[in-house]
Amino acid sequence: MELDREEERMLKGEEGPAVRKAMELLVAVGEVMGAGRMVKIKSAQVSGVSYGNIGEAGLEFLEDWAENGAKVKVLTTLNPCGMDLERWVEMGIDERYRSKQMSIIEAFRKMGAETTCTCTPYLAGNLPKRGDHIAWSESSAVCYANSVIGARTNREGGPSALAAAIAGRTPFYGLHLEENRAPTVIVEVQTYVRTSYEFSLLGYTVGKIIGAGIPFFKGLRAAESDKLKIMSAALAASGGIAMFHIPGVTPEAESYDKACLERICVDLTELERSRDYLSYGNEADLCCVGCPHCSLNELEELSILLRGRKVSSGKGLWVWTSKVVRDEAKRRGYIKAIEDAGGKVFVDTCMVVCPLERSGFAYMVTNSCKAAHYVPSTSGLKASVAELSEAVEMVLEGR
Ligand code: F3S
Repeated sequence: MELDREEERMLKGEEGPAVRKAMELLVAVGEVMGAGRMVKIKSAQVSGVSYGNIGEAGLEFLEDWAENGAKVKVLTTLNPCGMDLERWVEMGIDERYRSKQMSIIEAFRKMGAETTCTCTPYLAGNLPKRGDHIAWSESSAVCYANSVIGARTNREGGPSALAAAIAGRTPFYGLHLEENRAPTVIVEVQTYVRTSYEFSLLGYTVGKIIGAGIPFFKGLRAAESDKLKIMSAALAASGGIAMFHIPGVTPEAESYDKACLERICVDLTELERSRDYLSYGNEADLCCVGCPHCSLNELEELSILLRGRKVSSGKGLWVWTSKVVRDEAKRRGYIKAIEDAGGKVFVDTCMVVCPLERSGFAYMVTNSCKAAHYVPSTSGLKASVAELSEAVEMVLEGR
């Protein structure tokens, strides 16, 4: 790889051992991936924040960097961690877990990262512009940033995103290059996709069918940001998809020639097949909403849905969002409305990266295919997917 003078200096250790280690990691990745050079980044988003996911080895790795003076050079936010940093007791978290999780957060804080833990950084102050190079690692946020915002990032791992934050650059390959952002397959959507849940099913189905590549969706009409957010998560969960195009909706959809692309069709039967694949049954004692983390609009929608209703005793409605969005939702009264109905709104964490098995619930229903895809393996709860209103109804009184 060709390095400029500043990069050479960093690699030689002239900015200290932590920066040298970051550069060594980035150069190694760049050489394996065939990158010719580095590119400066505007922001980073680092995964591997939950103690349950990274354990002792991960904690040591982070503390080692922090103690060696590692400091991020760009705006850096974190993925959800293993607990609500304030309401951890209500999640069944014990003191040992709390203390380990706080050590992880402290290591990131020492390195200068914003300790806002969210998979929707673009709703919480880390919003890149079209064409910005970034190094993000949460797969749903990567897919959203590339597709909807038009920023440029590969699907980074936690360590490579952190190294990029410390060096302020990332190897220039993959989706940083214009030519790699062209669609690879046309997806003809032959059914009416309207709600967030249906967009999630569509993303999950397409991810499963194509596995990798960049789909170009035809036949989708209105697709607001929240729908693209939940579809991004599903595409990245069932497949390794990091970008998609929708004509008239995403900014780069018209930039490429689609004449010779392979086509696939997706109809209602295929969406129903995904629903059945992800659904254990139609009973649940816990409804989870907020994968990816809820936006303000989604919290408002939920608060309206819950008007005059109560969560049944012995059941739970757990809602997940970022601190930034929660604070604004609190100001607008949405959080009170949800919690008056018996729901709980947690921040900094989510149903997949927290130890959900400690919640005391056994069976989760959600409107997010990504959550239903992962929860059975991460915490052992059974899972199902349903339309938001139906999912919420399953845990309400007077059902
Ligand atoms: Fe976000 Fe957790 Fe879903 S990180 S995308 S809420 S699995």
